[in-house]
Amino acid sequence: MNISIVGAGHVGLVTGACFADLGNRVVMSDDDHAKIARLKRREMPFYEPGVEELLRRGMAKRRIRFTTSLAEAVEHGQLIFVCVGTPARPNGEADLSAVETVCRGIAKTMRSYRLIIEKSTVPVETGEWIKRTCRLTVRRGVPFDVASNPEFLREGQAVQDFLHPDRVVLGVESKRAKDLLLELYKPLQAPIIVTDVKSAELIKHASNSFLALKISFINAIAQICERVGADVAKVAEGMGLDKRIGRAFLDAGVGYGGYCLPKDVAAFIHIAEQLGYDFKLLKATAGVNEEQRRSFVKRVGEALWNLNNKTIGVLGLSFKPDTDDLREAPSIDIIRMLQQEGAKVRVFDPKAMAHADGLQGVTFCKDAYGVARGADCLAVVTEWNEFKELDFSRLKKLMRQPLIVDGRNIYDPEALRRLGFRYVGTGRSHGHD
Ligand code: UGA
Repeated sequence: MNISIVGAGHVGLVTGACFADLGNRVVMSDDDHAKIARLKRREMPFYEPGVEELLRRGMAKRRIRFTTSLAEAVEHGQLIFVCVGTPARPNGEADLSAVETVCRGIAKTMRSYRLIIEKSTVPVETGEWIKRTCRLTVRRGVPFDVASNPEFLREGQAVQDFLHPDRVVLGVESKRAKDLLLELYKPLQAPIIVTDVKSAELIKHASNSFLALKISFINAIAQICERVGADVAKVAEGMGLDKRIGRAFLDAGVGYGGYCLPKDVAAFIHIAEQLGYDFKLLKATAGVNEEQRRSFVKRVGEALWNLNNKTIGVLGLSFKPDTDDLREAPSIDIIRMLQQEGAKVRVFDPKAMAHADGLQGVTFCKDAYGVARGADCLAVVTEWNEFKELDFSRLKKLMRQPLIVDGRNIYDPEALRRLGFRYVGTGRSHGHD
């Protein structure tokens, strides 16, 4: 099929690359000229495993074309995916001006039937607004449909999530739109939910918010575990074996970050407010998440008596492993709080340091051993695999004090204690000596 993607960001590029790999002819447009020029030179604007390879393959087979012209994209694809950014305003509300501009542009240019599909995460009822806006702009007699097809792509696993989804959600209002989307997604052989546009939009809000809720719930349990000397990992395992609960997203830690969960929770709280519903459950979810960052810094401070003039080696900056993304990363708040308490901070991250110029006054190191040099504490903030297997006797020799505060519970407390470390986990008995 001929499809177009408007917005060559994370979601757009993954979507375009995967659809091309499934045999479709894809045009991707973006008004960022520099970005399109880089993509034409086969340079990736971000790190996401597998995407570069798919893009190269798609370009080599002439199934992918990049352009800065929206008109070219509209001309090419009968199905047009809107993947432009929906950044958060200070009050949590999503800024939809890019979606509006693009949809107006599509409507103005199209000469025959087009299916406009919202893929970016947008507030419920955006589909209605798109329809209204397009109706005002489109040439008389040119038919179109608007559909919602939310993405459920985790950064770092986006290609895998796209090609092997748990489900595909199609919010449609006509048989034509439904049939086109069913045909497009047929090769994935995934469970498909067909519903109305608003329900599809709500599935996205509800899913991300529920994931955030699960994380905050286990983090609240972690707080209780710390106070009574229980082990949150075991509690999560015990809960997770209940099929109604499930083990996924029950890893306690420094809380959720990234471009999606914090923004989507804030947006859903705002939407609910506008609809006259006070979503207290989600407000508490966000509150627990912020508290988790403070509580981590507090634990580091308590383990060292105080933080003034202490050197803290931070392992990991990205909001989770396998991505270079620092947006809303817990590490940023944690480092700022450590510095406010007078600590000196050394950091290492395998991928995200190139984007960390905003971090003032920290020492960037070339690996975990560099971070450990002269440190009073190693603070694990992101669970990169390479931090799981370190040479601990080497680390111990490099550090001023052998203390590890593990914000992601990646280490075996007993094993580290046997190696002579003081170990403080999250939701695990502190084991201070
Ligand atoms: C999330 C959703 O998982 C995707 O389904 C969704 O499509 C995407 O947002 C989006 O809306 O675009 P992502 O932001 O890539 O994906 O990250 P997640 O893998 O969901 O992790 C989010 C945060 O939660 C990370 O900071 C991670 O460290 C944290 N987390 C996750 C925990 O603290 N504990 C857990 O058990 C799981």
